[in-house]
Amino acid sequence: MAIDANEQTRLKQKAAERALELVEPGMTVGLGSGSTATLWIKLLGEKVRDQGLKIRAIASSEDSEKLGRSYGIPFTTFEETRVIDLAVDGADEVAPGLALIKGGGGKLLREKIVASAAKKFVVVADESKIVEKLGKFPLPVEVIPMAEPLVNDALRDLGFTPKVRANKDGSQHITDEGNLILDCSGLLIDDPDTMAAELDSIVGVVEHGLFLEMADIALIAAAGGIVERTE
Ligand code: A5P
Repeated sequence: MAIDANEQTRLKQKAAERALELVEPGMTVGLGSGSTATLWIKLLGEKVRDQGLKIRAIASSEDSEKLGRSYGIPFTTFEETRVIDLAVDGADEVAPGLALIKGGGGKLLREKIVASAAKKFVVVADESKIVEKLGKFPLPVEVIPMAEPLVNDALRDLGFTPKVRANKDGSQHITDEGNLILDCSGLLIDDPDTMAAELDSIVGVVEHGLFLEMADIALIAAAGGIVERTE
């Protein structure tokens, strides 16, 4: 569903506000990436800075960590703790069963690590992200640079049209981990589980943006209010 950009930001803010209610003192919190997660990190940061909320965080990107630190959010690592109590992140598409496409901002690898370690993974999104079938949004696939031509061929064999992600200046986009992203368009994904297994089996693929059976709740902001989806 297409919505006006200002309205979309307002809805993202509403979803972020609802997610803030889930944070409790003492929690280890996973910080997502992207515009909706950024709104949430700012709200969380204000609560830490202005109200003394005691939490510690693990971020899914360098950008999110930098933002969190600017508010004084303390950070920890998986060396210190193996479990995240609550992770909050955005999504590019949300399909039935809370099957997600993520990685539009290129942070899918660390996002998936953070989500996988979370006892509760909450998706925050506006209603434009809801789809019946995943794939209209090009699926991001993170690839080891040396293997890009091989992975590109394998993705074409699966029916995708992959394109190496570029920065605004035309240079190749390099992820926080030093890899490339192939944005894979042209295929609606009928069976996400089978597709995820296919992608996992391609040598040179570091991670892909299909997040399946990971999200516990999606807080979807619509004009009429927040809808809490668990499936
Ligand atoms: C970042 O890599 C992504 O996974 C984001 O979470 C996703 O692209 C949603 O971003 P927005 O909140 O900006 O729509």
